[in-house]
Amino acid sequence: MKTQVAIVGAGPAGLLLSHLLHLGGVDSVVIETRSREEIEATIRAGVLEQGTVDLLVASGVGERLKREGFVHEGIILRFAGASHRIALTELTGRAITVYAQHEVIKDLVKRRLDDGGTLLFEVKDTALYDLDSPTPKVRFHREGKVHEIQAQFVAGCDGFHGVSRPSIPSRHRHEFTRNYPFGWFGLLVEAPPSTAELIYAHHERGFALVSTRSPQIQRLYFQCDPQDELKNWPDARIWEELHSRLANAEGWKLAEGRIFQRGIIAMRSFVVEPMRHGRLFLAGDAAHIVPPTGAKGLNLAVNDVRVLAAAFIDFFKAGHEAALQEYSATALKRVWRAEHFSWWMTSMLHRFHDDTPFQHRLQLSELDYVVSSRAKALTLAENYVG
Ligand code: PHB
Repeated sequence: MKTQVAIVGAGPAGLLLSHLLHLGGVDSVVIETRSREEIEATIRAGVLEQGTVDLLVASGVGERLKREGFVHEGIILRFAGASHRIALTELTGRAITVYAQHEVIKDLVKRRLDDGGTLLFEVKDTALYDLDSPTPKVRFHREGKVHEIQAQFVAGCDGFHGVSRPSIPSRHRHEFTRNYPFGWFGLLVEAPPSTAELIYAHHERGFALVSTRSPQIQRLYFQCDPQDELKNWPDARIWEELHSRLANAEGWKLAEGRIFQRGIIAMRSFVVEPMRHGRLFLAGDAAHIVPPTGAKGLNLAVNDVRVLAAAFIDFFKAGHEAALQEYSATALKRVWRAEHFSWWMTSMLHRFHDDTPFQHRLQLSELDYVVSSRAKALTLAENYVG
């Protein structure tokens, strides 16, 4: 196969890149190890920044998102038994939209296929070759045969565990990592909303988050040991933990319901620099990971491919290479801002195993400052809405 851009990975980054390139008249092929059913069912994040929504709408894949997504103009910080609202829209003029990542995936897959795009699912043993040459290649197995894509560029959009990043020789990779000593236990629950806006709760027993998916389905998380196992958490223990972490002085109560999905997520901060090697360009989780506390992961992936698609189009349509040369530096500026914000939110809201009472007091003081100073609230708000 021959194409202009070979895209490894059909997550939000790979699919949106392929879509934006198509709109700009650039040809691509997307390959993916999982099946279409699997990528359309994988439960991930759900918060879209205004800029993400605007890009999806402007590029013609935001119709269902506009109809079914929920616009939120604030979030709640709950600590020391009281709730405090951060008025995102009042402070910044912008809002966030709650719309699940796998719904974004469904919209993008459908649109790519309707537009005649090539998406190859269930490929195996993907390997990247000749990345230093003008004709990089992607080889893989599919339906028992070996295939090769000859492209002018390769976009590595295959996530943290994909083959793209390790295809860059380690001497050309600078990696920055921070692992957190906790994870998130995530649940999907059949229950009515308990709150009109997301609640981020700081508590002595650990962090908890109340999010939503629809009027019938709620998304809940609580901080746990990253090595913990689902079997240690019967439903009664989950509810007891959530109720105690989320209780407030006003007698607010979390609505319970049938838990129909559960999982434990590790928490990590990670960046690789540069996000390019030869003709390989990395985007999304292949290049960086943020802990989910700032709700930035999907939005960073979207920002990467916004920049990358424009740079590829500039190259193929106008013959300009400058934007491609600048891609890594441009994307990394935004990446590091989100890395700092996500680390900051995580550090302020979680209980660390080596916390002393002194550090606990510092967290409370910082939270108190965030909700009582307009400057500090604005700092949180403008980072949160992007
Ligand atoms: C979610 O709804 O999945 C969600 C919301 C906010 C976060 C992380 C995840 O910070």
